[in-house]
Amino acid sequence: MAAFEGQVVLVSGGATGLGAATATLAAEAGARVAIFDVNEADGLAVARATGGRFWHVDVGSADEWTAAVAAVTAELGPIGFAHLNAGIMTRPLDVALSVPPIEDFALGRYEALRRVNIDGVVFGLQALLPGMARRGGGAITITSSMGGLAPIPFDPIYSLTKHALVGLVRSLGAAHPSGPVRINAICPGGFTSDLFPPQLHAPDSLTPQDVAIEVLDLLASGATGETRLMLKKGVPAQAVSPSLGQ
Ligand SMILES: NC(=O)c1ccc[n+]([C@@H]2O[C@H](COP(=O)([O-])OP(=O)(O)OC[C@H]3O[C@@H](n4cnc5c(N)ncnc54)[C@H](O)[C@@H]3O)[C@@H](O)[C@H]2O)c1
Repeated sequence: MAAFEGQVVLVSGGATGLGAATATLAAEAGARVAIFDVNEADGLAVARATGGRFWHVDVGSADEWTAAVAAVTAELGPIGFAHLNAGIMTRPLDVALSVPPIEDFALGRYEALRRVNIDGVVFGLQALLPGMARRGGGAITITSSMGGLAPIPFDPIYSLTKHALVGLVRSLGAAHPSGPVRINAICPGGFTSDLFPPQLHAPDSLTPQDVAIEVLDLLASGATGETRLMLKKGVPAQAVSPSLGQ
């Protein structure tokens, strides 16, 4: 995609899964990629493979966002594109899938999800938007989930955080329809990363690469405020309307 040639593309949660796939495709399209993650070993490996740079950034820290965005800008140049993608689920994969009682939900685990899945996006926007505006514009794709548009019975708190991102993207799009920064969300169904319980992987499950293609499409040519749903292989991704049915 010509849009990325020579551009700086930042990917949070870029060490594995979807973020690593976005970084790889962006680099293949000529971008200089900046990978933010807490997983240093895999983040450095992706940086080496893509000719990009890795920064150890905890996305739940506003201060780390500010410092790292300044470092990327100084070392690679102004950031034109970003994929705000770091995310966690409630439960470790070795726990059998069942509905967790909300009243038993540990406060620390709730805070961890809120911190990565919501704060990690809000702080990222705060750190990135001023520089993108100074540059004359840019684009950001936020990773929500199918669980941001529909229930996830086995992880209601995760679904809560992903619904929050859909509300954020739609509201920012409505508030700033003419930019200067286009902000959209990708809402994938389950895809084959370590995050998604392997019991749920199926032959028609999406791969991180399938989803990354749509992430880059939204970055290159999306409008703004779009929530794009991808369900499974062979089913075209589609924008989901925020209409209230009137
Ligand atoms: N896999 C799925 O089925 C699926 C479906 C819909 C949405 N998603 C979303 O896709 C995104 C990517 O997930 P994935 O499936 O590729 O899983 P993944 O675990 O491979 O990737 C998530 C990345 O986020 C990083 N991360 C976690 N906490 C962080 C923090 N505090 N600071 C910085 N980085 C941190 C992890 O180290 C990891 O590299 C997530 O937001 C997830 O919620 C996944």
